Amino acid sequence: MTRIEQARAILAANDRGGYTVPTDRLYPFQWNWDSAFVAMGWATFDGARAWREIERLLEGQWEDGLVPQIVFHAPSDDYFPGPEVWGIKRSPPTSGITQPPVLASAVRFVLERLGEADEARAAAIYPKLVLNHGWWDAARDPGHTGLVATLHPWETGMDNSPAWDAALERVPTQTTTPIQRRDTGHVDATFRPRGIEYQRFIHLVDIFREAGWKPERMLAVSPFKVADVATNAILLRAERDLLALAERFGSAVERAAVKERIARKQTALAGLWHEPLGAYLSRDLIAGEAIPVRTSAGFLPLFAGLHGKADVLATRLQDWHARDIALVPSTDPDEPRFEPQRYWRGPVWSVVNWMIAEGLREAGAADASALVLADTRRLVGDAGFSEYFDSTSRAGIGGGTFSWTAAIDLLLAEGTAA
Ligand code: DGY
Repeated sequence: MTRIEQARAILAANDRGGYTVPTDRLYPFQWNWDSAFVAMGWATFDGARAWREIERLLEGQWEDGLVPQIVFHAPSDDYFPGPEVWGIKRSPPTSGITQPPVLASAVRFVLERLGEADEARAAAIYPKLVLNHGWWDAARDPGHTGLVATLHPWETGMDNSPAWDAALERVPTQTTTPIQRRDTGHVDATFRPRGIEYQRFIHLVDIFREAGWKPERMLAVSPFKVADVATNAILLRAERDLLALAERFGSAVERAAVKERIARKQTALAGLWHEPLGAYLSRDLIAGEAIPVRTSAGFLPLFAGLHGKADVLATRLQDWHARDIALVPSTDPDEPRFEPQRYWRGPVWSVVNWMIAEGLREAGAADASALVLADTRRLVGDAGFSEYFDSTSRAGIGGGTFSWTAAIDLLLAEGTAA
């Protein structure tokens, strides 16, 4: 099989009927941001299937606009916490939190790729994206600061990033739900979050369930509240992509609302630059201060269209490459909490690389963009379609035959992002 055939075969093997699981057993449901990237991968060879991926994700959308982190289309005992822990009586059942909002960017990508013939499908999806972006604004930035709040590390997608360590320490470790982890039965525990983090992750689920999953209550009671630089950058990019969709499908009123949010978010995101550390940093919204930990999230304002710091960020990537560090480590290797194998504390993730490379290219940093893409291709070529990669040994770790790794490889095989 060629490499392209292998990547397509992974998506086909992980297809559970119009939605794609991230990988067999470890993640047996449909995940929000995984599916957005996976739809882009499907679009390279099966346009109808790409739209189906997005439509099935939106089957889980709530009336208020929330697009949940997980849609539990079919039962499975392979994952904890399953639908009974979330306790949300919907059909299909879902979790009650969200994930980085890549969706509008994926819809624009798929539409531009597939062209006019698919306008009707995109037009039917468009109002759901408008509703979702309205949810982000109302539920997570009611004060119109320009930065949305994230209430659970799972919402950032970068669950155990060292950026969350201090903020997570405020979260009690006791839970009403008994913790029955399944992930460490599927992959080596040293590649996964620690037990104490899971206690805090589940404590948050317990208190949100008690709050009835009501956005204003969750915002009020959560002991974890951060302005994640990645989520905010991805949302700003998604707003720009929503505006492009609104030019085709929306009203003047909708376009004006999106433009107003873009202006507000641009200023606020630029304010996350921290000159002493030379990085964009997340903010702890309870402590009211910057979180002084540099991670790969800090490169994503480039993807959002903030290009002023492109040279500094490109130089940092080139320095790491010269030191034989695989690009892009999820935590800066000079941070004391860098762990090259442990999930989001140091390994390389190809979806993050794709967004960083897109941002660098758009900012005019073509060499650094090409470097990131070449390293991503090399990692997958040498180690296979793993969930993530050890940023020092370059070994493939976590789950195997991973959907979003395959999807990004399909994009890179075509030079889509080059
Ligand atoms: C996990 O690793 O189980 C998280 O739910 C990812 O969303």
